[in-house]
Parts: sequence; structure tokens; C-alpha cells
Amino acid sequence: MAQQRELFASRLGFILMTAGCAIGLGNVWRFPYIVGQYGGGLFVLLYFFFLAILGFPVLLMELSLGRAGRSTYPGAFRNLQNPETRFRWSGFAYVLFAGNLILLMFYAPVTGWLLAYAVDFVRGVFNGMTPAECGAYFGSFLENPWKQIGYTVFVTVLTIVICMGGVRKTIEKSIKYMMIGLFFLLILLVVRSLSLPNAGEGINFFLDPSPEHFIRNGLLETVHAAMAQAFFTLSLGIGSIAICGSYIGRDRSLPQEGVWITVLDTSMAICSGLIVFPACAAFNIDPGQGPALIFVTLPNVFQSMPFGAFWGCLFFLFLSIAALSTLIAVFENLAAFGIDELKWERKKSCSVFGGALLILSMPCILGFNLWKSFQPLGEGTNVLDLEDFIVSDNLLPLGALYLTVFCMNRYGWGAKNFYGELNTGIGWKFPWIVRHYLRWGLPLVILTIWAIGMLKKTGLLDKLTGLLGA
Ligand code: ALA
Repeated sequence: MAQQRELFASRLGFILMTAGCAIGLGNVWRFPYIVGQYGGGLFVLLYFFFLAILGFPVLLMELSLGRAGRSTYPGAFRNLQNPETRFRWSGFAYVLFAGNLILLMFYAPVTGWLLAYAVDFVRGVFNGMTPAECGAYFGSFLENPWKQIGYTVFVTVLTIVICMGGVRKTIEKSIKYMMIGLFFLLILLVVRSLSLPNAGEGINFFLDPSPEHFIRNGLLETVHAAMAQAFFTLSLGIGSIAICGSYIGRDRSLPQEGVWITVLDTSMAICSGLIVFPACAAFNIDPGQGPALIFVTLPNVFQSMPFGAFWGCLFFLFLSIAALSTLIAVFENLAAFGIDELKWERKKSCSVFGGALLILSMPCILGFNLWKSFQPLGEGTNVLDLEDFIVSDNLLPLGALYLTVFCMNRYGWGAKNFYGELNTGIGWKFPWIVRHYLRWGLPLVILTIWAIGMLKKTGLLDKLTGLLGA
């Protein structure tokens, strides 16, 4: 089976596809708004810290699992587990793997929104709108299920068609072009944003490590936000990255590839900050207003600029491409599952999972209009919040924990086997001494993220921070 598996045509193709899987809404939408909410430079430093001690090691584990297991998540656990252990590691991996589908259930509609905004800029919809009108426009956009359904179907069908073509022929090639286009747009937008009046003020907010904003939301919540972002941005825990590892050869050691992927992902997030914060400063907009930042505020910023329709369209096109690359890479997990586990042809697998995704994306869309009264996580919440909660707050950290225990425990894959795979090939080797941290420290950090997330959702965190005076 291992010999028949399709492999990437080039190392660049692998790095760009894995970076494409990681680079998405987490970098271009989530990162700027949480930096805005949690206070600029010091938060960014904390995020880098967690990326290094948490994101990077788990990324290496996923890549190694995929490359050695040569299968999707559950199959890789099954192929690599200690044969003498009676515990079936693949069992819970199926649950974690379902996270890919749940992620796409809200990722596809949001990618559709971004594309819709790019088209709306071309149509001049935002010309002359006041900030209040931009806000109202987003509200009415969400109220209209048909427009959202149209764009969601478009991005999903595009994803299905690209994945049907196979890893080498269409997925690798299209993501390569998309990533090159993305970097080109990024440079253009950064230069434009940095040349706006008052841009320096925005950069100061973004990069100045002043504690003033940092402690505004309470220390525990801020630390949790930085840890959770480190996970989300690299799509860790549900096997999205493992599938990329399953398509590479063994000529290069994985730590070096991991560094490339992490650096590309982080650069994208930093550049998104360099676009958003100077623009906020130039037009006197509060960057701490949360998820609505790019849909409500930025259209207004762009339409106030000379050639605003052009810049606005470019910005939303940039966001759409980043999201689409994740959509394709994560969808490939589902396609590969049908091929590996169910022994389907690629076309059949893409059609079945694509059809399922089209239907399962609907609740997220309907949650903003026809099903508005369904508020699963408390007042004001919707289906998207529920899906995001299941994936980001539960499956990603729990999946990373499960993977860590599997890799470092002799009843799972075992530290020696994991290290052997990780360091096979030319390039930098991961130090053996770090295994103590990987075995004990890393699971503890991950458990902490998960526990704080749960306390936050249940409201207990507020009570606790109140008691601690944090
Ligand atoms: N890693 C993906 C993102 O950042 C999920 O959007």
C-alpha cells in the first residue's frame, strides 16, 4: 500500500500545501482581531512563545505520524500502534477526524462570505456607505440565506473539482499558484497600508509590548487566547496536517520542514496585522472590536481611500485565497479517508464527501437567519459558534493531547519510533533531550488550555479570575 500512495512532485509543493492548510482564516481574520482585543505587542510575544513550545512540537508529531503511517488519521494510528497493545488507538482517532468535516461546515460558508465581499467591492456596493451602513450591510447579508448558499456552493464545488484531480495533478499545483498569488497580494496590501497617514500609530499598537491593554481582559483569558490561537493557526490535532505528511518522501528530516511551515504561517499572520492595524489607525478605528472587524469596519476603511473598490476587492480576494487553500487541504483529508478506509475511487470519494459537505454547511448559514432562535451556547450564539466550539475548544486540544500521548508512550507508537521517523532524512535533527518535555510538559500545557477553555465557556473562569483579582 505504501508504495502505491501518490507523493508530492516537489518539496516546494509539500511545504506550500502544508502552509496552505495552516494559513487561513486563523491568520488573516482571527489573528488581527484577537491581537486587537487582547492588547497588541505583548500578546504577540506570548503567541510566539506558545507557537514555539506547543504548536511546533505537535506539528512535527502530525507530520511524522502521516509520513510513517501513510494514511489518514485513524489509519495512521492503526498502522503505527504497538502491536502488543490491546487498546485500539484508531477508535478515538475517528472522533477527532470528524473535526475536519465539522471545521469545513463553517469554513466553507465563511470562505463564501469573503468571496461575496470581494465581488461586492467590484460592484461598488460599499461606495459612499457610512460606518453604520457598513454594519447594517453585514447584518442584512447574514439575513439572506440565498446569497450565502450561492457562494458556499461555488467554493465547495471548486474545492471538490480540484481534489478530484488528485494530489500531484491539481491539488499541489493549484495550491502552489494560490500561495504565490497570496504572497503577491500580501506585499501589495502591506505596502499600501504602511503608506497611509498615521500608519506608525497602528504599528505601535501592534508591536509595542505595553502591558496596558494586555491585562485588560484578565491574565488567564489572555493566556488562553494566545495558546488556542497557536493551535488553530496550524490546524493541529485532527489530522489535517498529518495528511500532508502522508504524501512526502523520506529524504528530508521533518524538523526543518516544520520550521518552514511555521515561519510561513507566522509571517502571514504578522503581515495581516501590518495591513489591518495601520488602516485602523489611519481611519481612527478601534482595533479591539472583535470578529466583526473585517466585515464591518474594513469595508468602510477601504471605501474612504482613493481607488477604494480596487483595494477592498484585493483585500477580500486575499482573504478568500487564504481560506480556500485551507478548504482544499482539509477537504483532501475527507477524500483520502474514502480512498484509504473505504477503498473508494478518488472521484467517488470527492463526490460523496463533497455532497455531504454541501448539505452540512447549511446549518451554519441558516443559523444566521431562519434558525436564529437556536442559540446553543447561550444568548446571542449561533450554529457557527457551536461548530467552532466543538472544533477549536475541544477537538483540536484533545486531539493534540491524544497524539502527544500516542507518540511518546510505549503503549502507543513510542518515543524512539517517533524520533526515528522525525529525524529520518537530511537536515536538522530534533534533539533527543527534549523528549522529557514532550512526554510530560507538553501534555500538561495542552490540558491546561483545554481546561481554561472549558472554564471560560461555562463562566467559571470569570468567577475564578474575580477571586484571584487577575
Ligand atoms: N489553520 C487554519 C486557519 O488558520 C484552520 O484558518
